[in-house]
Amino acid sequence: MENHMKEKTCMVTGATSGIGLATAQALAQQGATVIVVGRNPEKGATTVARIRQETGNPSVEFMLADLSVQAEIRHLAREFQSRYSRLDVLVNNAGGFFLKRQLSADGIEMTLALNYLNFFLPTHLLLDTLKASAPARIVNVSSTVHKNAQIDFENLQRERKYSGIGAYGQSKLAVVLFTYELARRLEGTQVTVNALHPGFVATNIATNNGWPFKLFVPLGRFIALSPKKGAQTSIYLASSPEVAGVTGKYFDKKKAAPLTAAPYDQAVAQRLWEISVKMTGL
Ligand SMILES: NC(=O)c1ccc[n+]([C@@H]2O[C@H](COP(=O)([O-])OP(=O)(O)OC[C@H]3O[C@@H](n4cnc5c(N)ncnc54)[C@H](OP(=O)(O)O)[C@@H]3O)[C@@H](O)[C@H]2O)c1
Repeated sequence: MENHMKEKTCMVTGATSGIGLATAQALAQQGATVIVVGRNPEKGATTVARIRQETGNPSVEFMLADLSVQAEIRHLAREFQSRYSRLDVLVNNAGGFFLKRQLSADGIEMTLALNYLNFFLPTHLLLDTLKASAPARIVNVSSTVHKNAQIDFENLQRERKYSGIGAYGQSKLAVVLFTYELARRLEGTQVTVNALHPGFVATNIATNNGWPFKLFVPLGRFIALSPKKGAQTSIYLASSPEVAGVTGKYFDKKKAAPLTAAPYDQAVAQRLWEISVKMTGL
């Protein structure tokens, strides 16, 4: 175990698998206290035991929440704040792909609920703790697919003409817009927020969608990055001194990438923000 992140407390959502697991492992390796957030208690316990054993860092804990459910996100934030006094790094990572339209327990289209509102709500609930721990960092895992996506305000929850990739792209664009807007609103607080594309990574993503995906995903492993490689930009943004103070950027392969037109649209970002506040009851 190294000491680089000693004294830092980091929360990684969706850290029981894939990119989130590799991110949590690396932060624990760097000496941080790491909170692994996931929806499955058995997987959580196994993950924590594995990270502790592999890194020699005992300060790794599991917190349970189905992050598509707003009441569980609120409970998570309350529980975290009752147990920890600081939060230096929040990695919003948990996400999924849904081939068929489905609704969350709150009646919200699942992709929007899990991939976007699950970043928006916990960030807000934990913002005071992040500000009090500043300099602090928020890292939002997006995807390159956001570049071909649109926020369809007339059909935000895709009641009409649902497509899994359309809903996924929109959710990842929402994450980028949220990142830019939040960076503007956090100016002067020493809390930074950046978004990233991890690359095409061999993980469990999309395997919840039946046999074509179960078949495709193992085949993809031949060309995709390993989770360890796919987590590099998340780890970099969470812990590297090189990006201390850098905010409001979208990173790919550890480099701030040129911005596409859509996320620059502040009017769209603000409209989405207002809708998100209403959808999360903030
Ligand atoms: N893989 C890629 O090529 C790629 C490319 C671009 C962006 N991304 C993004 O990277 C992030 C991580 O995905 P991944 O590829 O590492 O996929 P993954 O292996 O499926 O990991 C997703 C993580 O999110 C958790 N999760 C899913 N639904 C949840 C819920 N309702 N409540 C709590 N946790 C939940 C999963 O928990 P369980 O372990 O219980 O399933 C798992 O820990 C996602 O935001 C994804 O959109 C991935």
